[in-house]
Amino acid sequence: MTQVSGSSDVPDMGRRQFMNLLTFGTITGVAAGALYPVVKYFIPSSSGGASGGVTAKDALGNDVIASEFLATHNPGNRVLAQGLKGDPTYIVVEGDHTLADYGINAVCTHLGCVVPWNTSEEKFICPCHGSQYDAEGKVTRGPAPLSLMLAHTNVDDNGKVIFSTWTEKDFRTDENPWWV
Ligand code: FES
Repeated sequence: MTQVSGSSDVPDMGRRQFMNLLTFGTITGVAAGALYPVVKYFIPSSSGGASGGVTAKDALGNDVIASEFLATHNPGNRVLAQGLKGDPTYIVVEGDHTLADYGINAVCTHLGCVVPWNTSEEKFICPCHGSQYDAEGKVTRGPAPLSLMLAHTNVDDNGKVIFSTWTEKDFRTDENPWWV
């Protein structure tokens, strides 16, 4: 007659597999624990997400500092900077020589040409097919079907100009933004 040692309801083979499983589980757990800081490192915190905005960059790729910018630009100027998603975006200097709280995306809503600011006519005129936009980027002549996108413009604690997504009503049309 065969002696069965220990617990009769856990055969030797089954016990070994069970132990293997436990061991594997332990190792996996340790590995996951060790990986956690690495994983965390690669996942940006929510504050760094899309809602946080981007620092405006000048033509040389340097951060735009609001005080320096205003010292070298005049009331009424519209000056290109790199904005959200790398889009060329105008920083607007108001008539009282302050920064406007909005920026104007320079990408024409017709076929995507970058629209220059025409200082003497005080409007944006697209060189590709002649669309025109007023000083706030509202479309005034086609073929462009829509106004230029807006972005919020703010100055952070370090004095840098920050663009962030404009999700509220478009103040030029009083309609919901078409780009959100
Ligand atoms: Fe601007 Fe056509 S791309 S008018």
